[in-house]
Amino acid sequence: MKVFLAGATGVIGARLLPKLLAAGHAVTAMTRRQESAARLESAGATPVVCDVYDREWLHRAVAAAGPEVVIHQLTSLPRRIHPRRVPKQLAATNRVRTEGTANLVAAAVGAGARRIVAQSIAFAHRPEREGLKTEADPLFLDPPTRYRPLINAVAELERLTTGTEAIEGVALRYGYFYGPGTIYGPGGSFLEDVRKRRVPIVGRGGGVFSFIDLDDAADATIAALDSPEGIYQIVDDQPAPLREWLPEFARAAGAAPPPRVPRWLGRLVAGWYGIYMMELQRGISNARAKDRLGWQPSQPSWREGFRRLLADRDG
Ligand SMILES: NC(=O)c1ccc[n+]([C@@H]2O[C@H](COP(=O)([O-])OP(=O)(O)OC[C@H]3O[C@@H](n4cnc5c(N)ncnc54)[C@H](OP(=O)(O)O)[C@@H]3O)[C@@H](O)[C@H]2O)c1
Repeated sequence: MKVFLAGATGVIGARLLPKLLAAGHAVTAMTRRQESAARLESAGATPVVCDVYDREWLHRAVAAAGPEVVIHQLTSLPRRIHPRRVPKQLAATNRVRTEGTANLVAAAVGAGARRIVAQSIAFAHRPEREGLKTEADPLFLDPPTRYRPLINAVAELERLTTGTEAIEGVALRYGYFYGPGTIYGPGGSFLEDVRKRRVPIVGRGGGVFSFIDLDDAADATIAALDSPEGIYQIVDDQPAPLREWLPEFARAAGAAPPPRVPRWLGRLVAGWYGIYMMELQRGISNARAKDRLGWQPSQPSWREGFRRLLADRDG
């Protein structure tokens, strides 16, 4: 089918593009950068240079492509996340998720596309009670005021994607990406910080992380081209608390075990968001995605995934 891929050059878009092409889809791939267009073309896509905020140009670009499905993989994230600076660091992505999504949905509708599939996140739930969070559990819409724009933007992206009458919508809540080009991979900022013993286990390290291998995220996205509509959580089978996965990650990276710091110190250094991640967040269920997308992670555990990713210790 004809697919319009917005965000073709990002970490997930770059894994998704060859898979879409290999599956026989005709892909129009969007980037803001002329220099990336040539790479997208040599990969086998039809490139289009466009900014999601240039509405007129976007409408023309999507209409000219005439896609059946528009895939939205746009974010605007830094290479290194500082938990204390998250409200500022996420501002550009909040805009992409709200104004950018609105523009893309409108362009997709205008072009007569059947469906939009958009990237959301699986780490925005209210951290109440133990157990895995499903798609029916509430988002954390009432965090401290500084963090509200972040969650509101996620909710708005999901609303625009799955609640627009004129088009089918799928929102994919990906877990924490790991793989080449991510903060966990060779050259990544998290890997570098772990090697310098700069990432501690805070308090009891009870914050549960749900990871996803980039290739598995890309496979789930392809499964969503023809799935039932709705929201799906795309994570692996082993949500794990920080105290469990961080030492394993350090081992896989050839680093010394992570230090431990008390919660008060963690809060001082990493702020509220750091505590949310390291102590509060709950794990995420992938049951609906497995059931309705007919998708299984080929890398069901971050354990083996990290080992494979970091097998080349010089990376
Ligand atoms: N679930 C997760 O854990 C998750 C999700 C996403 C990202 N991340 C992390 O965030 C970091 C950065 O991600 P990334 O490499 O994907 O890069 P990114 O800088 O966030 O960009 C992603 C894509 O959005 C496009 N884009 C951004 N603003 C745009 C605009 N105004 N108009 C049109 N296109 C726009 C970029 O295209 P061009 O630059 O080519 O124009 C690119 O293709 C990585 O470490 C990644 O692992 C994590």
